[in-house]
Amino acid sequence: MERYNYGMIGLGVMGRNLLYNIADNGFSIAGFDLDEVKIKELQEGASSQMKVKGTGTLEDFVAALETPRKIILMVPAGKPVDAVLENITPLLSKGDIVIDAGNSYFKDTNRRVEDLASKNLHFMGMGVSGGEKGARTGPSIMPGGDLEAFTLLQPMLEAIAAKVDNEACTAYMGKGSAGNYVKMVHNGIEYAIMQLISEAYDLLKRGAGLNNDQLYEVFKEWNNGEMNSFLIEITRDIFQQKDSLTDSFLVDQILDKAGAKGTGKWTSEQAMEIGVSIPTIDIAVTSRILSAYKEERILASQLYSEKEITSPEDIKLFIQEVGDALFLATLISYAQGLALLVKASEEYSFQIPLKDVVKIWRGGCIIRSVLLEKFYAAYTKDPNLSNILLDPNIAVLVKSKIKALRKTAGYAAENGISSLGIQTALGYFDAYTTESLPVNLIQAQRDYFGAHTYQRIDREGVFHTVWNSVNN
Ligand code: 6PG
Repeated sequence: MERYNYGMIGLGVMGRNLLYNIADNGFSIAGFDLDEVKIKELQEGASSQMKVKGTGTLEDFVAALETPRKIILMVPAGKPVDAVLENITPLLSKGDIVIDAGNSYFKDTNRRVEDLASKNLHFMGMGVSGGEKGARTGPSIMPGGDLEAFTLLQPMLEAIAAKVDNEACTAYMGKGSAGNYVKMVHNGIEYAIMQLISEAYDLLKRGAGLNNDQLYEVFKEWNNGEMNSFLIEITRDIFQQKDSLTDSFLVDQILDKAGAKGTGKWTSEQAMEIGVSIPTIDIAVTSRILSAYKEERILASQLYSEKEITSPEDIKLFIQEVGDALFLATLISYAQGLALLVKASEEYSFQIPLKDVVKIWRGGCIIRSVLLEKFYAAYTKDPNLSNILLDPNIAVLVKSKIKALRKTAGYAAENGISSLGIQTALGYFDAYTTESLPVNLIQAQRDYFGAHTYQRIDREGVFHTVWNSVNN
């Protein structure tokens, strides 16, 4: 019987599109799904050049694969992954490889790596970014784990990944669950950038009074310059999308309550757990939570409606400043996420190659942008950079935009236009670039009421003082 090079379990939108991408690149691939309709759709959607086979039982699926078997899972994170593993591992042979391509939590992957290793099987966590279109035509792919298994997959991964400068947007992300961790942080940065773009939209709409056609023109211009990115590009298009149910723009008909599948929250939890400050990512996560308080926000808006918004005098200058503020706040969000990867790599001995991370994020993924070229240059010059804000060339760029970020944050605050992302990006930057922070006072307070001790600036050691209470 003909044996297939790869197997794909989960023939939903992402699984089917990734399978077709693999088949398009000359690899034979068998697919499995519990849903017979999906198996039928797979066969119907395959081109005549593709060597594709749909199977309805795991036994048939496993029997159809060449050894060592290379099986990609594209199923929802959590229990569905464990359910698939429970059913399929008894059918596999020593040396077979199972690759989880979903947004799985890295600690779940750690458990699964150990479990399958005890059965002489390889388990890998692999982030895949780019949505449905990316899966079909070229995602950014973040594989981690067993290096031997990775090298077996590498030719296929490099064939199907997005390309930038003829280089595949995939690379080995490090040991164990590093691939899932990098994807998780990718999503955390994604949340932050989406939050910042929404704030820029609000400032231009409510501050400058721009309509959707004008917003389209602004984002179109931004996307043609240094702010070129996937998220700016799709935002440009969103402002032109008409609503099929009314004669207005669709964006104006969408309810302002944001959903989230959880990867942003995991990023914030992880940063707290290992002690990394990522306030703009945190605020993006909590802003989605705050948006869900719709009914309360209606009541509060009636109770606290303040003064009218003052439109900026020079609209053209204002648009430029909002753009510069968005650019810099976005750069600061990347800086926070990448700093988390640096610390996590040490904490978990992942050995994450930061240079390769930003290199493969240049294309295919949701946070792809021309800015990543600058980060790639920074890590190429110094692979051990703890924070991209410390790169001299990035510093020149930051200094050219900081005035606009301050002005925009000030305008938003003055006019009551919520800009939590912009404010925390500026606040993070100011704290990160301040040599003496006022936390000496916090140390004094902690020692005063809790004898938690403090260090001094003039000598080594740990100190405690019995503080004088003035009204004693
Ligand atoms: C990607 C996306 C994707 C993610 C969606 C939904 O990189 O292709 O990040 O993996 O699942 O963006 O995420 P939220 O529902 O959490 O916004």
